[in-house]
Amino acid sequence: MADETIETLSAETLHFPPSAAFTAQANARADVYDAPFEEFWESNGRERVTWFEPFTELYRWELPHAEWYLGGKLNVAYNCVDRHVEAGLGSRVAFHWEGEPEDETRAITYADLQRDVVRMANALRKIGVGKGTAVAIYMGMVPELAMAILACSRLGAPFTVVFGGFAADSLSDRMNDMGCEVLVTQDEAWRRGKPVPLKVVADEAMQAVPGVRAALVVRRTGNAVPMTDGRDHWYHDLDVSDDPASCPCEPMDSEDLLFVMYTSGTTAKPKGIAHTTAGYLVGVATTHSLIFDLKAESDVYWCAADIGWITGHSYIVFGPLCNGATSVIYEGTPDYPNYERWWEIVERYGVSILYTAPTAIRAHIKWGPEHVGKHDISSLRLLGSVGEPINPAAWMWYHKHIGGERCPIVDTWWQTETGMILLTSLPGVTTAKPGCATRPFPGVFAAVLNEEGERVEHGSGYLVLERPWPAMTRGIFGDDARFQETYWKKFPGYYFAGDGARIDEDGDFWLLGRVDDVMNVSGHRLSTIEIESALVDHPRVAEAAVCGRSDALTGEAIVAYVTLKGNEGPSVEMLEELRNHVAVRIGAFAKPANIVFTPELPKTRSGKIMRRLLRDVAENRAIGDTTTLADSGVVLELASRAAESLTDE
Ligand code: WT7
Repeated sequence: MADETIETLSAETLHFPPSAAFTAQANARADVYDAPFEEFWESNGRERVTWFEPFTELYRWELPHAEWYLGGKLNVAYNCVDRHVEAGLGSRVAFHWEGEPEDETRAITYADLQRDVVRMANALRKIGVGKGTAVAIYMGMVPELAMAILACSRLGAPFTVVFGGFAADSLSDRMNDMGCEVLVTQDEAWRRGKPVPLKVVADEAMQAVPGVRAALVVRRTGNAVPMTDGRDHWYHDLDVSDDPASCPCEPMDSEDLLFVMYTSGTTAKPKGIAHTTAGYLVGVATTHSLIFDLKAESDVYWCAADIGWITGHSYIVFGPLCNGATSVIYEGTPDYPNYERWWEIVERYGVSILYTAPTAIRAHIKWGPEHVGKHDISSLRLLGSVGEPINPAAWMWYHKHIGGERCPIVDTWWQTETGMILLTSLPGVTTAKPGCATRPFPGVFAAVLNEEGERVEHGSGYLVLERPWPAMTRGIFGDDARFQETYWKKFPGYYFAGDGARIDEDGDFWLLGRVDDVMNVSGHRLSTIEIESALVDHPRVAEAAVCGRSDALTGEAIVAYVTLKGNEGPSVEMLEELRNHVAVRIGAFAKPANIVFTPELPKTRSGKIMRRLLRDVAENRAIGDTTTLADSGVVLELASRAAESLTDE
């Protein structure tokens, strides 16, 4: 522990300038920061995307609503697939897909992808999907997930991908909110050698979605699953054409809705973050090329996220495919069948660019460097990190054991709402500092404000964006009032990200974590209130309060304080029942790590739960100011209970 602390302290003062060799070949040159805002986005918009009709106006900003590339017509699937085939790149591999069972792999070329996307689009058309039909996609990491996304894009059908770890209620809530008429799912998914019943969960969800008309089911494990006549269709049973001429790419308006991605906010109801067509595509393609230094002819790129989250949308599907990249998609977890799996994949495909999250790096640290040591990973030339601030010790391990002390590391800050990376180093240009996201991307204007809304030149405060950027969300689906309230009210005229940040003496940005009631568990955003609602929904629970505590592996871990009805005492059975209840309501990844049973919660005289104190207790810290508490004895009692709290660890 002492060693780690020392390493952390010294790493914070370490600087890693780019090597001359990397700089000489880098996509981004130092002068990329000099381009004026409008020129930068104008030229990237023209050059990175093929337009059916060119845009006539770069952007329009009627605060807080921005529109980009007005007047243009394009199709995202055409840009990601067809145009590469037309350019003679049909035989280039788009995806090396690696199934969880080790003998299942597929190399999908751009020509294959075109046929498969057309087939999927025709299947969707056959079951009633057309331009404007909202589609939900609930799948594991199979190639058909990317194909379903692209098929919807081809047809102009807005979609929402619901991560395969979500429970039935979460799926039906999202489908109802977006008005989804069709669901694409699969029989089952593989997870650590066991089948996960996606279709069964999807069936339960669809019972609560009156507007759903049809489901398209992809066969993955081949085990029998229930099918409802007239509603459910096996994908492989539909006799449809894969000839591109049979299903032309729908010309879409720049500002047509592309997809909605639900993410947790500070209330129990997730926010449907809306992204539109042109600005999103230009934003992800530009950032993907410059930040990951993509050389489409030679690189093998692997973003080890799940397509069910925004990282996978922007940097597995849309950015890389728009840029004609060769990528890896891996179906399983990093620890199956053993801790070497990732490094086996890097070696097998010659992965040159790896993009992952600090929580995954910390898991590999825990497992030990001997596993990666058994593989030749010298093909790697660039590493990326996303999801939470990367602790300097993890950065140093990543640099040494994965990067061989030669690969630049890009620490990329962004959000579901921002659509694309906004703060990051540029490899070959920026001097990296472990734990520091460094600078706004070219064409992005970020600042730190104090409580009074004044700019902080050097020091800490709230991270805001000053100007619009192409991939920014166009709003919360169906709830403009919440959009204005959440992001634009605290500092009028600025987008407020919900994160704290510090600007150092060099002008570099360090992220300090969320400043609201949002937790970050393994790089996944979860709201305290969402989990409280799930707990209170259990018949034996009278009251619940949830907060995060720091965790060496997951960044934050969820701690729940629960008062049972009739002052029932704590029991291991109740602990398991409540954790499972959260899994059934939201998904297994939202299960609290600890539950503290308590007859009373610390509240102000007006009845507001004091989360700050709960966090102090959860972190074993000295308890802060309790003078506003209605009953200050509660918190002491709580601290002693927490010390003996029940946990699954
Ligand atoms: C929140 C967004 C979009 C990527 C996946 C998460 C935190 C993300 C970093 C980073 C420090 C980071 C922020 C942000 N975050 N990347 N490099 N350094 N913090 O997407 O679920 O929308 O969460 O993740 O707190 O607000 P998300």
